[in-house]
Amino acid sequence: MAEDAEAGKIAAANRAVDENIEQGQVVGIGSGSTIVFAVKRIAERNKHANLNLVCIPTSFQARQLIAEHGLTLGSLETSPVINVAIDGADEVDDNINLIKGGGGCLMQEKIIASCAKKLFIIADNRKNSKVLGTTWKKGIPIEILPMAYKPLQLKIMELLGGNAQLRMAARKAGPVVTDNGNFLIDWMFDGEQDWDHVNKTILNLPGVIETGLFLNMTTAAYFGSPDGSVVVRK
Ligand code: A5P
Repeated sequence: MAEDAEAGKIAAANRAVDENIEQGQVVGIGSGSTIVFAVKRIAERNKHANLNLVCIPTSFQARQLIAEHGLTLGSLETSPVINVAIDGADEVDDNINLIKGGGGCLMQEKIIASCAKKLFIIADNRKNSKVLGTTWKKGIPIEILPMAYKPLQLKIMELLGGNAQLRMAARKAGPVVTDNGNFLIDWMFDGEQDWDHVNKTILNLPGVIETGLFLNMTTAAYFGSPDGSVVVRK
């Protein structure tokens, strides 16, 4: 099963890289398990013909990936406009809206996506759904300032219902701390939602830094299957 998913991730990553990464670009590098295959593909191509890319990371993990693969590390300070960002997602709906942040990196991912002229999403085909919440059952990740976690849990539940859970670390006593030193709340919900309303409602609360809802940001999503075929949604 894990091998099947991996084959899908590789197929999606290779196709998205080959179709969209060109010489001389500033490239946003996402986070998660799927982006690893995209960086591998970029590095492979770079070995054959120097692509002269500048890569901007979305996380500590992405930064390490860029360095380990011998690619040029850049920053938004020196490259504020990104040609192409490539990233994974936890779920993608019919309108290529996304849930992101399962790995806790949503804030920098969203900043990079917002600076990119084009955002390409790569995923195995389990992430492909009609309606958000169908396949990803871990809620909407929300990055928040630590001091506000308790009132924010209560306010989110009061305004939107559902259950707002503080994300706890798996191998440490206490909450997950993001790359930016913040906490995460996962908002668990039932049924179909008005995502624009949900996003605005959450973002309006003081102490909320960013949500893992990526609405109207994606150029195309590549979904890979275990047999190596790829479906592209634009
Ligand atoms: C990181 O916080 C996330 O937004 C990832 O991009 C997302 O969880 C996809 O990860 P996988 O590629 O591991 O599925």
